[in-house]
Amino acid sequence: MPVITFANTKGGAGKTTAVLLLATELARKGYRVTILDADPQHWISRWHEISGNVKNVSVIDFVTSASLPLHISENKANTDYFIIDLPGARNPLLATAVGLSDHVLIPIQGCAMDARGGAQVLELLQYLDEKAGIKIGHSVVLTRVNSMVTTRALQLVKALLNERHVPVLDTAIIERSAFRDIFDCGGTLATMDATRVSNLEKARENALCFAEEMMRKLPVKLPVAARLSGLLMRDAA
Ligand SMILES: Nc1ncnc2c1ncn2[C@@H]1O[C@H](COP(=O)(O)OP(=O)(O)OP(=O)(O)O)[C@@H](O)[C@H]1O
Ligand SMILES: [Mg+2]
Repeated sequence: MPVITFANTKGGAGKTTAVLLLATELARKGYRVTILDADPQHWISRWHEISGNVKNVSVIDFVTSASLPLHISENKANTDYFIIDLPGARNPLLATAVGLSDHVLIPIQGCAMDARGGAQVLELLQYLDEKAGIKIGHSVVLTRVNSMVTTRALQLVKALLNERHVPVLDTAIIERSAFRDIFDCGGTLATMDATRVSNLEKARENALCFAEEMMRKLPVKLPVAARLSGLLMRDAA
């Protein structure tokens, strides 16, 4: 059961939004997902409260540096993917979560401030590699990308990452109102009403692409029964 951490020490980079998209899409595929909510704003826990029971998704709130390893060991048997939502600031949780992760995703919006917060995470990963020989898979995921135009700031960030040989996911998370509304309405993109949310279909495609790319990076084999249930859930949506 892979552990995926979303980290960027700059606040507002899009971590929590990306956590929710990945978790709900993996759950729809039939995977059991446990979200460890260490964001002091508790958005995921609030979303879970208003959503009621979301199939295959569990959320653990008030996660601390001390409790994190315990949550993982206690829930191993009932989880296919753990997803950790970190605070958007430098915090002792960053090192603990990164040390427990199979993959660290660094959401970066196309702006320099965000890139700097991401660079702090990349420096920590490099430090672990060079000083302790611990290699942790990681990628940047570009977030809040404009669907219509490629801004100069985004081009600069992409060029910088490329120059430093930082892996970047093929799928960028597009700026979509559905990704904001989901926190107000609860539920998932699949249960949202397409007549009330603009470009919902495009938002669904984008979230699915993102989750499928992560599934290819960190494959987990599902039992046949769970695969069938995932297929049925998709057909029902
Ligand atoms: N792809 C997106 N489309 C539309 N709005 C987005 C998208 N990603 C993030 N946002 C909005 O940007 C704001 C910050 O996003 P989010 O809370 O996900 O960032 P964060 O990195 O978790 O922040 P923090 O560091 O404060 O925890 C929120 O208002 C969210 O709704
Ligand atoms: Mg957050």
